Amino acid sequence: MIKKNKIFVACDSTNILKIKKIIKETQNTKLKVGYKFGLEFLNSKNGRNFLSKIKNKIIFADLKIHDIPNTCISTIKAIKDLNINYLTIHISSGLDALKACKKISGRTKLIGVTTLTSLNNKSLKEIGYSKNINQLVSLQAKLAKKANLDAIVCSAHEVKIVKRFFHKEIITPGIRFSTKTDDQKRVVAPKQAYKNGSDWLVIGRPITRGNIKKNVKILINHLSQ
Ligand code: C5P
Repeated sequence: MIKKNKIFVACDSTNILKIKKIIKETQNTKLKVGYKFGLEFLNSKNGRNFLSKIKNKIIFADLKIHDIPNTCISTIKAIKDLNINYLTIHISSGLDALKACKKISGRTKLIGVTTLTSLNNKSLKEIGYSKNINQLVSLQAKLAKKANLDAIVCSAHEVKIVKRFFHKEIITPGIRFSTKTDDQKRVVAPKQAYKNGSDWLVIGRPITRGNIKKNVKILINHLSQ
């Protein structure tokens, strides 16, 4: 059997009807599809409730936890009632926080976020980092390995580098199959991202904006060429 390409569709909306539409219209036989819910949806009035009832879907809660160890742990405990398969924490929360969370995350896979795909070398300088993107992401991947995290998020540009240090799942946002990049700076086309070694692609607006079914078809065509 041919292995299906895996994508997480970023469900970035607070509108339950829109989310239901996204889920319905991204169903297809060619791709393995999971659904990513971020801060926007999970903090919305009906978002959490919706997620507590969802069944038989691969769920990625993109909380991007970034805090002291105790608060990180409490946050994970507070969402234990939800059936979450993947959960994100910023690797820059530090090794202690990562290790402490991994200890209590149970069946939920803990994903370390390296450096946001909306940042480039200039942005890092502005924040005060002296390392460039590749150096920083490499260090973060090493830390994720040390903390025994289950997956990391990085851009597809860095996948080849991080694969030297991190041997579990690699998840890459910043995917574009047209010239429109929006706020993303480190973008890669889907086919190239898999070629680089990404296990999962996170795709939001290129699928959810406009005609969803048509966008999924365009993606499938792009991958089959
Ligand atoms: O619409 P677009 O495809 O740019 O959506 C990308 C999704 O991936 C967003 O939900 C964003 O929050 C998330 N993400 C990202 N970069 C990271 C981690 C997550 O763009 N490093």
